[in-house]
Amino acid sequence: MRNKPLPCGLSRRSLLLTVAASSLVAACGGSGGSSGGGGFSSSSSSSSSSSSSSSLSSSSSSSSSGPVLPDPATAPALKTHFAGNFKVGLVTDEWITGNASISALVIRHASSMTAENVLKADPIGLGGEGVYDFTRADILASFCATHGIALRGTPLVWHATSPAWFFAGDPADASYKATVRARLERYVTDVVTHYKGKIYAWDVVNEVISDDGSQTYRNSQWYQVLGKDFITYAFNAARAADPAAQLFINDYSTEDAGKLARLMSVVDDLIAGGVPIDGVGHQLHVNIGINPAAVEAALVATEARGLINHVTELDVSVYTGGGGQAELSGAPLAAALQTQALTYRALFNLFVAHPSIKVVTMWGTTDAHTWLDTFPVVRNDYPMLFDDSALPKSAFWAVVDPAFVP
Ligand code: XIL
Repeated sequence: MRNKPLPCGLSRRSLLLTVAASSLVAACGGSGGSSGGGGFSSSSSSSSSSSSSSSLSSSSSSSSSGPVLPDPATAPALKTHFAGNFKVGLVTDEWITGNASISALVIRHASSMTAENVLKADPIGLGGEGVYDFTRADILASFCATHGIALRGTPLVWHATSPAWFFAGDPADASYKATVRARLERYVTDVVTHYKGKIYAWDVVNEVISDDGSQTYRNSQWYQVLGKDFITYAFNAARAADPAAQLFINDYSTEDAGKLARLMSVVDDLIAGGVPIDGVGHQLHVNIGINPAAVEAALVATEARGLINHVTELDVSVYTGGGGQAELSGAPLAAALQTQALTYRALFNLFVAHPSIKVVTMWGTTDAHTWLDTFPVVRNDYPMLFDDSALPKSAFWAVVDPAFVP
């Protein structure tokens, strides 16, 4: 996949001596930190199956300078560690069935899985109206069934993966809106029905909130054709197809106060209209500058409405400066990884304190399998709990062991 550089060519112990822990703690309390999640076009690629050799082996117990991290063999299974709090989710596509290392990692640590791409309308619905290709998603679903892992579905409706046939026709036609509505309801009904009893929760709509404070709803094609009612149509169809599946509205930057207010106004509108919504999905594509208090505000807002929270796409980027920031290496990368560990600890402490959270899903598995290596720019990122060799990082130990000093 790619060759990730050593943080600085130093031993892990040397790194600890060169980085002041206090500055890391301070960095954790900084404001902002959202990496954002929209604005790209989906490739539905399954190419993330490639593996790379680890160059972060300084984080393993086999470092020549002596073990700093605990023996990986003693790492608790995340799903067991947090069993009393929430499900732990990891994300891959069906390629996992051909990757022994990632399969083992997921089987050991995950009680929930989300498909990274294969449950999206691109690819499932690319064939046209009423034509579905469930091949890849079915492989993932049977992997989950075999290993007793609950499967989370995302997304039924997303502007970035809505094939053009949904909107085919003449908008001036008197029947155009009804036609588009019928296509939407048919798609949602058929997909949810196909996975009835196999998918425990669906992100019914994804990223429907505007990033622009002057409007509430994203100005997607769905919104342009059907107005806000497309959300209601999708939720009603999903509930009818599988009454047992929990239904979510999912979005990024819910830790941004303005975005959260817009999201909650939509949630209030859905509740007032009797729309069958069970919870709010918080993507949480954040970075090491995230302020946990801002995340907590989003959790509390959901709780205030009597809904449950799902953390749906957590990753903690080492980049606070957006796509323009140069790739980190050496001591700055080492410092960022230590801050990352403290950030992950603060976030999981927050999650544990909120019983409204039913699942915490990390968007990927290891640092070798993360969309952030290509988004927002091609650049090595290190946002997961496991390194390129699928070994637990400092961030992992910070999450499971309060006494661990990153
Ligand atoms: C991303 C996948 O990780 C990529 O492989 C794909 O090319 C594009 O989509 N928010 C979402 C996810 O809701 O579906 C996105 O997943 C990441 C941002």
